[in-house]
Amino acid sequence: MSSDHPLRWSTNGLRVRISQTNNSTAHITPLFPSQKLLKTQVLREIKILRTNGIQEIFTSALGPNEQRFFMDLGFNLHEELSLLAHNFDKPIDFPTRPTRRVRRSDWATVLELDNAAFSTFWQFDTSALAEALAATPKTRVRMDATDTALGFAITGRSGRMAFLQRLAVDPGHQRLGVGRSLVADSLQWSRKRFVRELLVNTQVNNFAALSLYESMGFIKKRDGLAVLRWNGNP
Ligand SMILES: CC(C)(COP(=O)(O)OP(=O)(O)OC[C@H]1O[C@@H](n2cnc3c(N)ncnc32)[C@H](O)[C@@H]1OP(=O)(O)O)[C@@H](O)C(=O)NCCC(=O)NCCS
Repeated sequence: MSSDHPLRWSTNGLRVRISQTNNSTAHITPLFPSQKLLKTQVLREIKILRTNGIQEIFTSALGPNEQRFFMDLGFNLHEELSLLAHNFDKPIDFPTRPTRRVRRSDWATVLELDNAAFSTFWQFDTSALAEALAATPKTRVRMDATDTALGFAITGRSGRMAFLQRLAVDPGHQRLGVGRSLVADSLQWSRKRFVRELLVNTQVNNFAALSLYESMGFIKKRDGLAVLRWNGNP
């Protein structure tokens, strides 16, 4: 896809983002529940992407109904995710470390932390970070406020639902309580805004993250999520 194409757009019921590191890869997020998505529209979008040189499409993390919808169109399982929820019925921790608001000038640091913490597929580029920040009407983005930032967290809120969208701690400074403190900040912010449920998803084998969330009162939901992949004719 040529570089003058927009990196993100919304059309045919989908939000589309072209990877900045591999411009033959697109990431799509359905804008409606599966009952409101039209197969013809999604197929039209896939055709547009293919015409523009896209060879591989990944979905956002989808629930069971959305998974069925996209599998019917030829998508396959790429990775399963566990979905956990905190419903604020137990006391929650307070942050133990200072944090500060992330500004636009901090994005390079945030991306550096993110890329060090996550494996290649999950790493954010600028456009993925911008997409995460714009995904919900309200967003809280905090970074560790020590001399060298050791981690950051992004929490989005839509009404009384909130989503811990991203959490990363510098690999050289893990197991020091930075992650726990950032999650506590996210929980406190959500509770003060009367959030009913704070959701987070993570790879099924991400034992560090699962153990952190479960130790802070998050409960694993029965149905998980999945990222699906398309790389052929629908
Ligand atoms: C998950 C992550 C954010 C944890 O950050 P952290 O600063 O190392 O976590 P903390 O030091 O606050 O640890 C809190 C608890 O989490 C659990 N935990 C953290 N790392 C762990 C590991 N490697 N193995 C097992 N448990 C672990 C433990 O219960 C720990 O408590 P303890 O140290 O008292 O035993 C960090 O490992 C990370 O950035 N991973 C890569 C990115 C990622 O997976 N993000 C979350 C995806 S949604």
